[in-house]
Amino acid sequence: MADILSLAAIDDPVLRAAYRHCRSKVRQRDPVEYSIMQLMPPVLRPACWAMWAAFSAADDIADAAEGPLGDRAARLDAWTAALGSELLVGHSADPVRHALIDTVRRWRLDAAQLQLSFAALKDDARGRHLETWREWSARVGDSNFSWASLSMTLLSRAGVPVPIWLRRKDTYQRYLDGLYLTDTLTDLSQDLARGDISLPAEVLDLFPQAADHLRERRWSPAVSDLVTHLTQQAHRWLNQLDLTGALHPGPAEMLRTATRLFHARLDAVHEAGPVVLSRPVLPTWRMRWQILAPAQARAALAWRLAPLSPPPRRSGPVRPVPHQARSPLSVQPPPAHPSGARPPSIPADHMPRHVAVIMDGNGRWATSRNLPRHQGHQVGADSAVRDVIHGAAEIGLNYLTLYAFSTENWKRDTQEITYLFENVRDQLCSDIVNQERHGIRLRWAGRNEGLPEDLVEELLRAESTTRHRTGLTVTLCLNYGGRAELTQAAAQLARAATVGDVHPDHLSEDDLASHLLLPDTPDVDLIWRTGGEHRISNFLLWQSAYAELHFTEKYWPDVDRRDLWLAISDYAQRERRYGTAPPPTSSPDRPATQDSAQ
Ligand code: IPE
Ligand code: IPE
Ligand code: MG
Repeated sequence: MADILSLAAIDDPVLRAAYRHCRSKVRQRDPVEYSIMQLMPPVLRPACWAMWAAFSAADDIADAAEGPLGDRAARLDAWTAALGSELLVGHSADPVRHALIDTVRRWRLDAAQLQLSFAALKDDARGRHLETWREWSARVGDSNFSWASLSMTLLSRAGVPVPIWLRRKDTYQRYLDGLYLTDTLTDLSQDLARGDISLPAEVLDLFPQAADHLRERRWSPAVSDLVTHLTQQAHRWLNQLDLTGALHPGPAEMLRTATRLFHARLDAVHEAGPVVLSRPVLPTWRMRWQILAPAQARAALAWRLAPLSPPPRRSGPVRPVPHQARSPLSVQPPPAHPSGARPPSIPADHMPRHVAVIMDGNGRWATSRNLPRHQGHQVGADSAVRDVIHGAAEIGLNYLTLYAFSTENWKRDTQEITYLFENVRDQLCSDIVNQERHGIRLRWAGRNEGLPEDLVEELLRAESTTRHRTGLTVTLCLNYGGRAELTQAAAQLARAATVGDVHPDHLSEDDLASHLLLPDTPDVDLIWRTGGEHRISNFLLWQSAYAELHFTEKYWPDVDRRDLWLAISDYAQRERRYGTAPPPTSSPDRPATQDSAQ
């Protein structure tokens, strides 16, 4: 133990005590997770203990059996607020936070991301009801995603390449769901002790009375069937075949071992039967040892092959992260247009929810001024995009989607593409991240393949930093193609069918829609294309099935928010029918019959 702390360059006695405290907390509370952390390179283990201990401390506050929900949320708020100010000064009297602050500084972790994941736990503290697996998964994603991605960041800081595509793979998200569902099952008794059932209504409804019996802690046939169903589901989710293929042998070994241990936990649930209602269940010590002993040998070998960077000594300032309450009330209106123009007033039932823009004409704008094409992209991304986003927020739009680079745009000159990506990375992303007071959230739809890693990293960071904002959602379609999106959705469905998650005879349109890149974004109401062309160019093929279309001549860099408002005003005049017949009028406008015309 002393060796590990020294190996990790942790010399200060108070810090050493803080890390030791974290270690024993993790080992006692979560022995399986602790043993997975033991597969990390020794220099990173103390950081893992600190992060896990901090998440558990916050989780325990959120899940506390005693006290009303509001109190738990307030206590969690106080805990995260304390962490926020202690991060600024660099130390804490609380040993877990003290070790965590050291970890954040030493490994240059994203403190904002850390705060967000604690904030996500607040929803647990409020005891939110979950209707569907999709909602459940989003909640799990909020708290688990951050821990998993912080661990990956740790590995990359130590010089172990962890490809960023892993984090965006739907199979990886499913795998995390599998880990979390296993956790829920093994710790079912603790949830029940608090009177919680943290499962979506969608699955509880499949087993009538199971929810009531669970609350009474009665092991009935319905409860037994529910637990069997969930155990099988978790086994399936853990079996994601393509996760470890391209990974460095170290993280690959960790993932494989975690999978084996979690399957063993599920087997323990199955064997425990009614006992899961009265106490947490664990695989036997012997079973764990059979999995872990060879894994430790393989992991040690894998890390020996990896050239690890030496652990950094603690130093340097940390970026301040003030604690922020998340509240829709804190969203402020964006700055007005310089002309003083105000948005038209559109009746709420005529407002589109989702406007998608094909920002075309950058190249022609530049060429007509004898400038290189990339300058058109730059002006487009700077002035036009920023102003249109402000205009969208000002008029009260919920979703604005911007087509920035299509899967077909790779056919362009490399230089033009490089500049365009630089604009997005250095300008557009940070511009949106800085719109916090206007509540603007950024999402990215598109493929990773071919994009520079630093651009993907920036997009993921911007998504993560802004994901709790409650104002306008701006989706950037970058390296996006409608056909590519539908093809990957079909591939996911085919994969789900092979493991029995869906049946081809029962497939619905909703099933396909739920595998699109951003399934929680509503259909497009209005597509607006600038630059004079009248085509869709492979944009949002599924989502715009019933969109209204609006085309304007101006090149994108000449556009400002007033053009968006005109597009929305035009939309507000349209009559949307969705295939119904128009309402009857007193003078039918049917063309005259041939007889009467002659
Ligand atoms: C749209 O502008 C931006 C992208 C496609 C990346 P263009 O670059 O297509 O501009 P034009 O159509 O050539 O003028
Ligand atoms: C569509 O514009 C793609 C984007 C705006 C990103 P293009 O300029 O690539 O479309 P085509 O080639 O004219 O159809
Ligand atoms: Mg074009």
